[in-house]
Amino acid sequence: MKKINCLNLLLSLLIFSCLVVGCNKKEKTQEGTDPKEPVKVTPTDNSVSEIDKELLAQINAWTSSSKPLLSDAKAKELLGKHSCYTCHSLDGSQMIGPTLKGIFGKKGKVIRGDKEVEITVDELYLLKSLLHPMEEITSGYAPMMPPANLTDEEARNIVEFMKRLK
Ligand code: HEC
Repeated sequence: MKKINCLNLLLSLLIFSCLVVGCNKKEKTQEGTDPKEPVKVTPTDNSVSEIDKELLAQINAWTSSSKPLLSDAKAKELLGKHSCYTCHSLDGSQMIGPTLKGIFGKKGKVIRGDKEVEITVDELYLLKSLLHPMEEITSGYAPMMPPANLTDEEARNIVEFMKRLK
């Protein structure tokens, strides 16, 4: 009789400790992988500044715009109106500034602050180049682009047009 009680006790102890260890294990893996932490998606894998946040909000608002985009011809005129062709070509030739041909998705280097960093050209980079050209200077070029004075709709159309420039 006593022997059986002893065995029972041992068994319960064993089950109890298994449960405790099991729980601990579960907690640890959850801590390590953090499955509930939301994945922050930003167009560039670089740190997000206040300007970036503002521009990302502007870009995100475009997705709900119902206004049709300008045709290529009209968008080209818009770039002319804002003197972009004084410094940029659309055909691959380098001028005062880099060509805008094939710019979207291009990998390159820029000077940000006092550091040279690798970037991939995305919407954020394009909009920042237009509105805050001094934030990131394309490596190899003089920092002489003036900020473009654009309405939100113009900025949207120019960014979308640049994305189409293959
Ligand atoms: C006075 C000359 C000048 C004018 C006008 C100008 N830019 Fe620029 N732009 C530059 C220069 C120089 C650079 C490269 C240095 C830098 O990043 O500031 C540049 C960079 C850019 C970049 C980033 C290019 C890259 O490959 O990283 C984009 C995009 C751009 N400009 C678009 C425009 C658009 C669109 C306009 C018209 C609204 C415009 N620029 C007007 C001179 C100019």
